[in-house]
Amino acid sequence: ESGKLWGGRFVGTVDPIMEKFNSSITYDRHLWEVDVQGSKAYSRGLEKAGLLTKAEVDQIHHGLDKVAEEWAQDTFKLNPNDEDIHTANERRLKELIGETAGKLHTGRSRNDQVVTDLRLWMRQNCWTLSALLWGLIRTMVDRAEAERDILFPGYTHLQRAQPIRWSHWILSHAVALTRDSERLLEVQKRINVLPLGSGAIAGNPLGVDRELLRAELNFGAITLNSMDATSERDFVAEFLFWASLCMTHLSRMAEDLILYSTKEFSFVQLSDAYSTGSSLMPQKKNPDSLELIRSKAGRVFGRCAGLLMTLKGLPSTYNKDLQEDKEAVFEVSDTMSAVLQVATGIISTLQIHPENMARALSPDMLATDLAYYLVRKGMPFRQAHEASGKAVFMAETKGVALNQLSLQELQTISPLFSGDVSHVWDYGHSVEQYAALGGTARSSVDWQISQGKLA
Ligand code: ARG
Repeated sequence: ESGKLWGGRFVGTVDPIMEKFNSSITYDRHLWEVDVQGSKAYSRGLEKAGLLTKAEVDQIHHGLDKVAEEWAQDTFKLNPNDEDIHTANERRLKELIGETAGKLHTGRSRNDQVVTDLRLWMRQNCWTLSALLWGLIRTMVDRAEAERDILFPGYTHLQRAQPIRWSHWILSHAVALTRDSERLLEVQKRINVLPLGSGAIAGNPLGVDRELLRAELNFGAITLNSMDATSERDFVAEFLFWASLCMTHLSRMAEDLILYSTKEFSFVQLSDAYSTGSSLMPQKKNPDSLELIRSKAGRVFGRCAGLLMTLKGLPSTYNKDLQEDKEAVFEVSDTMSAVLQVATGIISTLQIHPENMARALSPDMLATDLAYYLVRKGMPFRQAHEASGKAVFMAETKGVALNQLSLQELQTISPLFSGDVSHVWDYGHSVEQYAALGGTARSSVDWQISQGKLA
């Protein structure tokens, strides 16, 4: 006997290097708990189908509890033939309860078992990630609320564009994350579908009630087609894409903060708790936490692209290639968990320098408002844009700031300029004009916050 669960038709032995190559236990051991959970439910299905007695089910459950206890206490001993978590748990169950263990896998395949396990694991893990993501969003929204009225330069193309509220910048990133939060809930819906009872490919011939299995494991629905159910990994791809997009958002925010923390900007200062020093240059304080967030994005995208590559050429139904899905899920889940916690820490301890932010505002950033001033006096916007552009040119030629042009000088450009043009040169007044929902005025920021808190 080869000691393998599939040993019956084999006479030769497996090359040790192949044994190791084929094995997934080093990582799929993370599934021990959901594997036990799935097996317990399946034994109930076999009982209802008349394939196990009540006494046998009790015996199996008792044995599986013991298996779970060993994993939980880290006393589960793997043996070299334990190819994956499914074979390990069944092998141990047999040692514990004897031949009855051999009835558990009746009509089941590792093909429907593994994908059931993975869905159970991901379902649980997504709630954890969802809570961490929501914690980050809350931290950002609270910060935006507390620092609502601080102004700083908004950039397009990294060139000074218009004055905005600092809170408006925070919320711009928080709003992207709320979409990630919604998106994760959508993915969770598609994770929460039960494949168990699909067998290896053709289904279950022994009358197992899949509705009972669904209820036992609390899934929202049952997969429709056994061939699809055992081989589709859409829910994994969607999860990895969710993570990729969320990392895109976090990486962009990290990039802004890296820039804002340079001496040249000096808008923010990272807490020591999320910075590191240089082994050579004593003065250095580096934003490593933000850089790592930016870099982990690349790693997560790689996992997403890698899974899609694995899937794209597969013939119908289960192929061993699918074993590779789990490392991607575990690695990306761990990465997301760490990144979300670090990001929350960074945001909640970040110091800001409102004086430097204010100092970085310059009158040229109000050139758009100067055009709107003329629009309010009745000038068509295209002409107003041209007139304001002329004022910018005039100030540049004279070597003065835009707000240093005299009223007489402005009036050479347009007779619509009058004494009240001085109001344009007030940054606080500027941002308050942007009061349409979604803009940077206080009322709109308050509206955004109220939406953020509701979601
Ligand atoms: N360890 C395998 C996996 O992760 C379990 C399924 C194996 N099925 C099979 N027919 N060899 O995909």
